[in-house]
Amino acid sequence: MKKLAELYRGKAKTVYTTENPDLLILEFRNDTSAFDGLRIEQLDRKGMVNNKFNYFIMTQLRQAGIPTQVESLLSDNEVLVKKLQMVPVECVVRNRAAGSLVKRLGVEEGQVLNPPTFELFLKNDALHDPMVNDSHCKAFGWASDDQLAKMKELSFKINTILTDLFDKAGLILVDYKLEFGLFKGEITLGDEFSPDGCRLWEKSTLKKMDKDRFRQGLGGVIEAYEEVAKRIGVCL
Ligand code: TMP
Ligand code: ASP
Repeated sequence: MKKLAELYRGKAKTVYTTENPDLLILEFRNDTSAFDGLRIEQLDRKGMVNNKFNYFIMTQLRQAGIPTQVESLLSDNEVLVKKLQMVPVECVVRNRAAGSLVKRLGVEEGQVLNPPTFELFLKNDALHDPMVNDSHCKAFGWASDDQLAKMKELSFKINTILTDLFDKAGLILVDYKLEFGLFKGEITLGDEFSPDGCRLWEKSTLKKMDKDRFRQGLGGVIEAYEEVAKRIGVCL
């Protein structure tokens, strides 16, 4: 499958059309963004690591019965996916307090959240992805009641699968962001799952192994991504 035309250039990936109107190619770039595009840097190997990481996770999720957009791995930096009509809200699941939750509620970083929380954020960099709720989604036509219920159900199913997968690799899945879309009417997992969009802490030391290393200038960003990949069994 060949790239036809550039459809959309995001902060870390470029989306291309193909000869098949139902299929797109995602190209993972080395661009690494934080603070809604305020800081962007090139990190060597990041495109390759995230593409292979994402393909591995999406395959695990598909095998566990989650509908995902991924079709096949095309190259180090490219994956063939179904064309989804994206829902413009991000779903965030949290198992421990970190990031914006700590800032917003003044709670302690690392506090275990039992049960895990589910939050929605509007995808809008200029507005810094404001938090929204179900009624906003319905009033503005971003997602229906049924679609929201499905997104929430899948987000928590994914939490069970991935918390276990990372736990076996000695890692805590602190939180993560998912994006869903519609494929022939079915809510389907899109975008990517990689250390760019989740928080992972080493169980024994609580060392941050995700994009917080970039956001907080801790260094060793890609080395941490590669370590996580190695531990869960991704072939780089
Ligand atoms: P937050 O603590 O900044 O709200 O983020 C929660 C998790 O979701 C964290 O793992 C980062 C991820 N996330 C993104 O990757 N992109 C986003 O735009 C948002 C809002 C969150
Ligand atoms: N994903 C967002 C960005 O690219 C937010 C973040 O990761 O800090 O800027």
